[in-house]
Amino acid sequence: MNSPKVTANVSSIAHGSAPETQTVSIRLGSDTSDRSYPIRIGSALFDDPQTYAAIGRATTALIVSNTTVAPLYAQGLKSALTARFKNVHLVTLPDGEAHKNWQTLNLIFDALLGQQCDRKTVLFALGGGVVGDMTGFAAASYMRGVPFVQVPTTLLAQVDSSVGGKTAINHPLGKNMIGAFYQPALVVCDLDTLKTLPERELSAGLAEVIKYGPIADTAFLDWIDENLDALMARNPVALAHAVKRSCEIKARVVGQDEREAGLRAILNFGHTFGHAIEAGMGYGKWLHGEAVGCGMVMAAELSRRLGLIDSAFVERLTRLIKRAGIPIVGPVLSPQNNAERYLELMRVDKKAEAGEIKFVVINGPGHAAVQSAPDALVRDVIDSCCR
Ligand code: NAD
Ligand code: GLY
Repeated sequence: MNSPKVTANVSSIAHGSAPETQTVSIRLGSDTSDRSYPIRIGSALFDDPQTYAAIGRATTALIVSNTTVAPLYAQGLKSALTARFKNVHLVTLPDGEAHKNWQTLNLIFDALLGQQCDRKTVLFALGGGVVGDMTGFAAASYMRGVPFVQVPTTLLAQVDSSVGGKTAINHPLGKNMIGAFYQPALVVCDLDTLKTLPERELSAGLAEVIKYGPIADTAFLDWIDENLDALMARNPVALAHAVKRSCEIKARVVGQDEREAGLRAILNFGHTFGHAIEAGMGYGKWLHGEAVGCGMVMAAELSRRLGLIDSAFVERLTRLIKRAGIPIVGPVLSPQNNAERYLELMRVDKKAEAGEIKFVVINGPGHAAVQSAPDALVRDVIDSCCR
């Protein structure tokens, strides 16, 4: 899946000029059930009428956002949608991973029913991955399914969670355990929204950008290495390229395996350890991207101990993750028996089969596979990576 040579224009990165709008298509389904949709990537997209060309006419739009993002962007989106929809409503959710649950999901249903929204209503998820995942789940189940649009406003959501149709809420016993595969009708990645993103959230998003290199595209990994400073400085051309290439890779994987029968699991590189960190620390304490970034270091180390990659590759990846501002040392989840606690949490992972934990491993730069590993080896990895 490696790309020939990454081509973001170096002089425009240096000057930071506005990126042109680009479209990545995600192709899904058959002639009879076409669930393909465009991912629009660019600047000032809310007000561009072309942005909404992919969605059909409807009378009502419900914007779902949260207490942080709504004050920044809901009015802008609402004004733009008023030209297209007769009624535009807004529901504002509490912010944070800790609120990704039934109670918060119900606020969306309360708004839909309270406003007498019919089957033709379109939901707009305006926010990061938490808002996107919950809005998608609400859209999948309201009246057995209404269309929805992802308007991701974090880097993580633009490069990963808004694309591919995984929707969910958390359960106290496991992350994203209750949900549905349900594809959006359109994804709108307006890079301008990233200007207000806190630094820590930008780093968390970079973890998911970096992820695509080791699993699928070493040329992209080289490009990230060379352009990390520009990305961290929020250079719009560099960000546009990172979002576009990430979406291209994700679209290609999801296009081949929409419901994760096999291949799609490689997108979970770092997530088995990462989900244990998130659940073990308590949702929201570590950001999802931070846990995934640290989890990638642990999964790379596991791959090395399995004899699949050399230490130079692990060191290179670890250096890059650290430069991106992501923790590279795992937290201690239990002072008494840390490795057992990780193993216990990882057995709840969705990839686990009959209690056997599955890991995404790197079996050569740019290639990933899913496999189990002896518990003793996993314990060694945890002991060496956590302090
Ligand atoms: P998030 O949604 O919690 O957003 C991070 C924080 O940034 C929040 O406080 C949010 O309010 C704030 N924020 C969002 N946009 C902002 C902006 N433009 N300016 C200022 N603040 C802004 O977290 P996230 O990292 O976007 O997403 C993580 C979630 O996504 C997790 O729940 C994870 O499970 C899920 N996820 C889902 C998939 C998928 O395929 N569906 C993939 C990866 C992650
Ligand atoms: N974020 C992993 C996936 O979408 O499959």
